[in-house]
Formats: sequence, structure tokens, C-alpha cells
Amino acid sequence: MTDVFGLSHKDSGPTNGQARHEQVVFCSDDRSGLHAIIAVYSTALGPGLGGTRFYPYESEQAALADVLNLSRAMAYKNALAGLDLGGAKAVIIGDPARDKSEPLLRAYGRFVQSLGGRYYTACDVGTYSEDMDIVARESRFVTGRTVAHGGAGDSSILTAFGVFQGMRAAAQYVYGTPSLRGRRVGVEGVGKVGHRLVEHLLEDGAEVVVCDVSEQAVERVRALHPGVEVVADAAALKLADIDVYSPCALGGALDDDTLAGLRAKIVCGGANNQLAHPGVEKQLAERGILYAPDYVVNSGGVIQVADEIEGFDMDRARAKATQIFDTTLKIFSIADEEGVPPAAAADRLAERRMSEVGRLRGIWLGR
Ligand SMILES: NC(=O)c1ccc[n+]([C@@H]2O[C@H](COP(=O)([O-])OP(=O)(O)OC[C@H]3O[C@@H](n4cnc5c(N)ncnc54)[C@H](O)[C@@H]3O)[C@@H](O)[C@H]2O)c1
Repeated sequence: MTDVFGLSHKDSGPTNGQARHEQVVFCSDDRSGLHAIIAVYSTALGPGLGGTRFYPYESEQAALADVLNLSRAMAYKNALAGLDLGGAKAVIIGDPARDKSEPLLRAYGRFVQSLGGRYYTACDVGTYSEDMDIVARESRFVTGRTVAHGGAGDSSILTAFGVFQGMRAAAQYVYGTPSLRGRRVGVEGVGKVGHRLVEHLLEDGAEVVVCDVSEQAVERVRALHPGVEVVADAAALKLADIDVYSPCALGGALDDDTLAGLRAKIVCGGANNQLAHPGVEKQLAERGILYAPDYVVNSGGVIQVADEIEGFDMDRARAKATQIFDTTLKIFSIADEEGVPPAAAADRLAERRMSEVGRLRGIWLGR
């Protein structure tokens, strides 16, 4: 049997076996205040793509730990998004509000350029498309740019669309139909991704319940969609009578406490790192709650910025993000066949693609 990428998964042998990052680069320019770390986890499928996080880490050690984790996660996300891109990420140590400047971003751009295309950068927490335009004055290997510079604009458009595709796949698996008509969906966090997801859901005929710590975010949804129910907070949402729980705020939404009261049959949302600790995926499976792995269903954003590398085409990018439906269904079926939770099945499928497609680079092409 083959999967959506045409890879065999019955007897596909060991994982890619990669325990260490290929390359980790410390970048410093004292005059501009640049202190950055670029981590390339894997280029098995192509240049590593991942955003630049600009964050006031407490120590270089904390920044290093974060960039090592984030770059590895990007390799898995990009592999399952069907991209010919590996996984990488960068962190700039500092307070973006205080430390960001043209010289700092351009110094950073020169380090990105110095890697010769092994790393493509983009936006992440603390960096914006406008910053990428400045980085791009020193490097060709930059995506996530402003529309004025041929960029794709706000990546939450396809992130929300992809989460919706993943949720349709989960509905297909649980209810036998991809439609969410008549299902009650609880969306935690109605920021850039969450509010767009609410629109997809209403269009499909779902009943929507939301919560957000920002009154402004709630008001925006209420003004546009008076029929949407609002509950006080995330705890109330998880206890509500909902069919689908969609975490679209911060990470760690699913821990031992919240899991106990959860009434939904499906968990599918845009937030990164939804499982608070290893083992939560098993508890979800034991309780008969279907978890659509976060990095699979929220890959629409990276699909959007990856498309920019070719010259952005929204129709092409949307078509690629539509495949999140098939990939999510495939993960559920591997989980069943191999007797593991969907989160583990997703990791296995990603590792197989990195290994089986990545090894083809060993075929000599001649000079
Ligand atoms: N934007 C993208 O393209 C993208 C891509 C992949 C993953 N993600 C992930 O999706 C999530 C949402 O991203 P976003 O771009 O919409 O961010 P955002 O900041 O626009 O929205 C997050 C919303 O969550 C709310 N929130 C924060 N804490 C909350 C809580 N405890 N309970 C309820 N609401 C709370 C915030 O007030 C905000 O409205 C993040 O985890 C992000 O990492 C985003």
C-alpha cells in the first residue's frame, strides 16, 4: 500500500535515523547588536526553510535549545506538507521592540546569504514581512515578503484553510462525511488564524463557539457573525458540549487536567505544540478522541511562503494546501494499521519521506 506521496509504509524500514542537526551557526555583529543562531536540522529534501524568531531569551543556552527544537519540527512539517524543502530555523536574541534596526537585520541577512542557500528564512514570532524585505537586501534566500515585493502577504490565510481541510478529514474519519454541517466546533483563540477558521466553518454550516482573552478579538468575530456563541475562557470551552475542539491560541492547550473534562470527539487546530508533554497523544487515543497532529494541519502557512520561492501563485498554493485533507486521512489510516496514535504516525510518515526521497540525492547525476 502506498501513501499520498506514493511511499510504501508497510515495510519501509528504519527512520531517517537523524539524531543530530546538520549545521548550527552562531552569528555575531557587536556594532549592530546582532546575536543570532541558525540551525539546519536536515536538508534531505532540499534547502532548510523556517522562520526567524526575534525574542529576548534569558540566555544563549535557552535560545539554542529553542532553535534546535524548532528547526527539527520544521523538517517534519515541511516533509508532510509535500515540499521539496528541509527543516531549519533561526533565532535572534533580543527584544524586537528595542533592538531591531536596519543594520542588525542586514547583518543577519549577510549571514543567511553566507550559507549559500542551505537555509531559507521567513517570518516568525517578532519578525514581519517588512523585516524580511530588509533582510532580502543582503540575501537571496528570503521568503515571506511583503506583497509589494512579490510576497504572499499574511500566511494565516492558508494556515486557516489548511486547518479546515484537516478538520474535514477528521470529520470524514469519525462521522463518514467531511462536512461539518450541524457540528459544534469550539475555537480557542480568534486571532489571525482562528477568526479565518471561524469563517470557513460557518460557510460549511457548522455551529461555532469561541473564546479569546482579547475582548477586541472576540468583538471582531461577534460584529461579523452575531450567531457565534462566546464562552468565558478556554476552560469553559473545553467543558462545553462541542464535537470538535480547535486550539488556535498558544501551545500546550492539551494537558492532563484539560484532557479530563474534554467532551469533543475531535481535536484539530492551528496552534503549534498543542500537546503539553509526551504521552498526551496516548491519553487522547485511549479516550477515543481523534487528534489531528498540529504540524500537519497548520502547514498551510509554510506552503504559502514556500510557494513564494517559485514566484507566488495563490491558486497553486491553495491547491497544495488542499492536500492537507488527504495527508491527514492517510495519517489516521497509518495510525490504525500500525496501532499507534496519529501523532506518532505523522512522525513516522515524515521520517519515511525524508529517508526514501532524501536518499535519492545519492544517485549520481554526472557532471
Ligand atoms: N499565522 C500563521 O500562519 C500560523 C502558522 C502556523 C501556526 N500558527 C500558530 O497558530 C496559533 C495562532 O496564531 P495566530 O497567527 O492566529 O496568532 P494571533 O496572535 O493572531 O492569535 C492568537 C489569539 O489567541 C488569543 N489567546 C491567547 N491566549 C489565549 C488563551 N489562553 N485563551 C484564549 N485565547 C487566547 C490571543 O488573544 C489572540 O487573539 C499560534 O500557536 C501560532 O504559532 C500560526
